[in-house]
Amino acid sequence: MKRIAVITSGRSRGSNFEAIARFLNDKPVEIAFVVVTSRRAPIIERCAELGVPALYFPMRDMAAFEAELLQALRRHDVSLIALAGFLRKFTPAFLRDCPCPLVNIHPALLPAYGGQGMYGIRVHEAVFAAGERVSGATVHYVNEEYDAGDIIAQREVDITACTTPQEVASAALRVEHELYPNTVWGLLQKL
Ligand code: GAR
Repeated sequence: MKRIAVITSGRSRGSNFEAIARFLNDKPVEIAFVVVTSRRAPIIERCAELGVPALYFPMRDMAAFEAELLQALRRHDVSLIALAGFLRKFTPAFLRDCPCPLVNIHPALLPAYGGQGMYGIRVHEAVFAAGERVSGATVHYVNEEYDAGDIIAQREVDITACTTPQEVASAALRVEHELYPNTVWGLLQKL
């Protein structure tokens, strides 16, 4: 049985967490815990429904957050971390000490439309404003820069029929929900 951790933020809706949890439900993988950075995060309710512990680590101080996270990763013997809507950079010290691979999903075709400030609807507004015909999602390893780690998997979606950034976001999110669970499962099988 492998164990993973999912790290979210106050802005996370929890839809990627839920997609991963449902996909892994019949696999020999357990979601050891979900990190939430707000006591009022709606994702806490989803965790309860799915029987996954939600650990609240406040984000006031990144060093304290990372120290709590490292302890939890070791305590639960976690094999992989999946970020889902977590928008902060990790410190080089944490990335060095982290006992397992750390991956993220981004709602566009990196390296385009990534980097600092590029999250949520801002990504899709930029894609839409540029008149792109294709968008998609990217799963990548996390390093010290925003959205810049090695790309693990990418999937495209045709957005020529989209008339608003919100429609681009919905198209990309459908791709995310397929790509992320499959990629996480593929990585776990290789560990
Ligand atoms: C997802 O669309 C994810 O790609 C994005 O945050 C959203 C979280 O949604 N992440 C980034 O933009 C990272 N740069 P969710 O909480 O419903 O999974």
